[in-house]
Amino acid sequence: METEVKKLEEEFGKDLSGVCDALGIEALRVKYLGRKAEINRLFSMVPSLSKEAKGIWGKNLNILKNKISLAIEEKLKSLGTKEEKIDLTYPAARLEKGSRHILSAVSEEICSVFEKLGFTVVEGTEIEDEWHNFSALNIPLDHPSRDAFDTFYLDIPQPQEKHRGKFLLRSHTSPSQARVMSVSKPPLAVISPGRVYRPDAVDASHSFMFHQVEGFAIDKNINFAHLKGVLLNFVKLFFSPDVNLRFRPHFFPFTEPSAEVDISCFICKGKKDKCSLCKGKGWLEILGCGMIHPKVLENCGIDSKKYKGFAFGMGVERPAMLKYGINDIRLFYENDVKFLEQF
Ligand code: PHE
Repeated sequence: METEVKKLEEEFGKDLSGVCDALGIEALRVKYLGRKAEINRLFSMVPSLSKEAKGIWGKNLNILKNKISLAIEEKLKSLGTKEEKIDLTYPAARLEKGSRHILSAVSEEICSVFEKLGFTVVEGTEIEDEWHNFSALNIPLDHPSRDAFDTFYLDIPQPQEKHRGKFLLRSHTSPSQARVMSVSKPPLAVISPGRVYRPDAVDASHSFMFHQVEGFAIDKNINFAHLKGVLLNFVKLFFSPDVNLRFRPHFFPFTEPSAEVDISCFICKGKKDKCSLCKGKGWLEILGCGMIHPKVLENCGIDSKKYKGFAFGMGVERPAMLKYGINDIRLFYENDVKFLEQF
């Protein structure tokens, strides 16, 4: 009897300390004071004890039962008073609100300017094949950008169709041009944002992954003036109404003629003197562009005698850095909340 009573008391103590709400206390009451409670079984054993033991254990069991019901009552009270102790004047805990990542915001901002100009957003794929990333875009087989030093090739089985070559992580968003052209008929005006990958060593202005936005338009009478007009509208809406454009001749295999585009420095406004942004040049490079090469149109099933098109591709990080005065590309990817919550 003695060990059983001790065991019961210990078990109750343990259960009591683990209980923290009214529901738990009710379960405790049923277990220790209910009809099937262990203590009732012990009570029923008392009559079979010796005369002397009967008196002692009857009394002890009654004491234990009182102790249990008192402890349960007290626990219930303590929970009740805890709830009443809420101080309604106490300042609430600060709610940490998430926000869009600066690069997502800038990429969306760029796309929404082009949407206003009549472009439709179409996303390409990050895993591409050699045909869409290079061949369709008139990039020759011996072009250095195909080298494994400039492109991440994927160590996975090749596409079924032999002409598509190997799978890779796209090194620019231009394959989106080939994807859209192969399945849609002109007129087309498309803007295509996304991540691109190049095996560059990471420093303040390079990363192995960054973002680009590709844009292109195809119709019967598209010419270079349309390209100029669209880009001029874009920089005025995105940077500032007094920004100007400069086209410098350049080469891309997928456009002819090709150009690189600079905007006039919106900090020194062309005054150049000791400008920390343009470093005294008065101009900032922002994108590459040109008239879509007839071979690219033909590769994707569009009649190059009937249709012409322009295309451009720009980074997202660089315009974001220029616009928000960010001087190190690595800040975008480190996920330091102190940096991110500024935007
Ligand atoms: N794909 C080119 C790059 O990554 C940019 C570009 C796009 C140039 C479209 C011309 C036309 O540098």
